[in-house]
Amino acid sequence: MPQFNDTELTAAVIRSFEETPNPRVKFLLEELVKSMHDFVRKTDLTFDEWSYAIDFLTRVGQKCTPTRQEFILLSDVFGVSMLVDAVNHRERDGATETTVLGPFYVGEHKQTPHGTDISPDNLTAERMFVQSRVTDLKGKPLAGVPVDVWHADDDGYYDSQRPTYEVTGPSSRARFITDSDGRFFFRTILPCSYPIPTDGPVGEMILQTRRHPMRPAHVHFLVNAAGYEPLITHVFIEGDKYLDSDVVFGVKDDLISKVEKRTDPLMPDGKPAGSSPWHLMTYDFRMKPGAGAAPKPMMAVTEDA
Ligand code: BEZ
Ligand code: FE
Repeated sequence: MPQFNDTELTAAVIRSFEETPNPRVKFLLEELVKSMHDFVRKTDLTFDEWSYAIDFLTRVGQKCTPTRQEFILLSDVFGVSMLVDAVNHRERDGATETTVLGPFYVGEHKQTPHGTDISPDNLTAERMFVQSRVTDLKGKPLAGVPVDVWHADDDGYYDSQRPTYEVTGPSSRARFITDSDGRFFFRTILPCSYPIPTDGPVGEMILQTRRHPMRPAHVHFLVNAAGYEPLITHVFIEGDKYLDSDVVFGVKDDLISKVEKRTDPLMPDGKPAGSSPWHLMTYDFRMKPGAGAAPKPMMAVTEDA
């Protein structure tokens, strides 16, 4: 009967994976066990602390629904999502920077004509016109590329967070297909900074550690061109007070846009602005050659399971 001291125990668990057929799975499990055992040794973890952690993770799982992913949120606020992003995008070669997908990509994006106002007009925020172009690294326009966009409403909520979502369907989210010059454009509201959900265990941890739960104002983009790496990013709004302290560590300088305040009666597509002032976001995306699958929206993951 083997008797292990704490270091031998680590070696024994690692040996237990010896027959794992997939070498990458074997490697990941070995490294995970080493890191977890090191954590327990370094911290002299108590039984109470271990049981708190088990209970916390259990509650994270219990908070998940087909439209709410508390584990993604946990990964985001621990900086793990941005670290996975960083190790997978070490060389950008001039391509647009990436950032977190976040938990609100629910995959209800309907193809929408250019120029459409994607936000319901009962929102009180000022209006914004977004114009963009998708190119390769040399500036050659990429036509026919699907671009998913989504952002929070004027109270800082995504459509999928509203109890009415099942009935009203998507809003402030859409899919545009780039034209022959790689362009797409749409109308919406000027988004505001907003808190991540704090009514679950992740929010509890944020508040107990005296962190603030805010994300700076942004619009999400997922650009998925054949022959290029899928681009998951946001465009942030210059001047937001949370740019330096995003709760999910997702801000990069290159993703901050100088949104212009305008009073012209017409927007760039020649159609009336409707109200004044309005705002103009101009931001172009440069795609890196490569491959890779775009993330599956949460709904699809649930349906496939
Ligand atoms: C978001 O921007 O939608 C988001 C990202 C990470 C955590 C929570 C929200
Ligand atoms: Fe967001």
